[in-house]
Amino acid sequence: MTGLTRREAVGLGLVGAAAPTLTALAQPRPASLERPGSLIGFASMIQDFRADPRFREMLLNQADIITPMNDLKWAQLRPKRDAFDFVDADEAIAFARANGKRVHGHALVWHDALPGWTRAIVSRSEAERELERHIETVLARYKGKVESWDVVNEVIAHDPRPDAPMRQGFWLSRLGPGYVETAFRLASRADPAARLVINDYDLEDPSPRTANRRRILLGMLRDLKAKGLPVHAVGMQAHLYGEREIDRKGLEAFVGELDRMGVDLMITELDVIDWQLPAKPDERDAAAAKLVATLLDAVSVTKPPQAIISWGISDRSSWISEVFKRQDGLANRPLPFDAEFREKPVWRVIASRRARNGSRS
Ligand code: XIL
Repeated sequence: MTGLTRREAVGLGLVGAAAPTLTALAQPRPASLERPGSLIGFASMIQDFRADPRFREMLLNQADIITPMNDLKWAQLRPKRDAFDFVDADEAIAFARANGKRVHGHALVWHDALPGWTRAIVSRSEAERELERHIETVLARYKGKVESWDVVNEVIAHDPRPDAPMRQGFWLSRLGPGYVETAFRLASRADPAARLVINDYDLEDPSPRTANRRRILLGMLRDLKAKGLPVHAVGMQAHLYGEREIDRKGLEAFVGELDRMGVDLMITELDVIDWQLPAKPDERDAAAAKLVATLLDAVSVTKPPQAIISWGISDRSSWISEVFKRQDGLANRPLPFDAEFREKPVWRVIASRRARNGSRS
C-alpha cells in the first residue's frame, strides 16, 4: 500500500481487498489536488457489459463505483426457492474488484422483481425465514466486496396518506411495517462493515406529495436511529422528470436534517426522463444538464453527496427508453453519454463533482 495512508486506503475501500490495480491508485497526490467531492459511477447491465466492450471501457475509465443494475435483485439471484444463482452478480462484482472500483449493492428488499415462487409464501414466519436466508446468504458471499447496500428500496407509498405511509406490496402485506427494521437488523448483523442505505424515488420536485414523502422518510430514519439501527445513508434515486422543477429549498432543508442525524446522501440512480423535453438534441441535453446541476447544487449545501451514480452509461441502453417513450418517436437521451458513447453536457456537470483524490471526503 505504498503511498496510501490507512485512512485513504479505507476510504478507497481497499483495505483487506486483493486489488491488482493498487499501484495505479497509490500514486501520492499533492494536497492541492484534493478537494471534497463525490464518488462517480454507473449502474451496469450485465448483458451490455458482456456484449459491448465500450461499456466495459467506460466503467474502467470513468467509474469509481459500480452498481450491478439487476444482478442482485431477488428475481435474478433466486430463480428457484432453494438455489441461489450468483453467476451474473459474481462476474460484475469480480470485474469491479479486480479494477479497484467500489460496488454499491441493489437491492436486498424491494416489492418488485420478486421471483414467482414468492407468491406461494403466505405466512409471516415463512416470509421472515426467506428474508433472513436471503440477506444472510447474499451478504456472506459479498462481505468485503460490496461496500454499501440498498437495504430497502421504494418503501414509501407513492402518494402517502396518514393511515398508509408505506407502499403496499409483498413485504408489507406479509410482515407489516416492521420489515424495514428487520431488514436493517439482518443486514448489519450479516456485514457489520457495510454501509446501509434506504433508497427511494420522487424526493426532489416541489410538489406537496414529494414533500410528504421526504417527511415520512425522515420520520422513518428517526425511528430506526432511535432503535439503535445503523442507517448510514439515504439513496436518492433521482430519476429526474425533465418537465418538473427541483425543489431547492426543500432539498436544502432535507439534507440539513440528514446531516444533523448523521445520515449521508447518495445519488443512486440518476437519469433524466426526457419524454417531454424539446425534440432538438442540443436543447434537450442542455435542459438535462441544467436540471442535474440544480439538483447537485441543492443537495450539496452541507457537503457533497457521497456518490453520484448514473442509472446506465449510454443512451443506447436505458430503462427510460422502455418506460417513458416520447410521443414524437425520437429516441430518448436520458444518460451522460450518447448512443455513440460521446459525452454530453450532463457528463461534464457530473464529472466536475468528482473527488479529486478518487475517494470521497
Ligand atoms: C430497472 C432496470 O433499469 C431495468 O433494466 C429492469 O428491467 C427493471 O428495473 N427503480 C429501481 C431500479 O430501483 O431497480 C429500476 O431498474 C428502475 C427504477
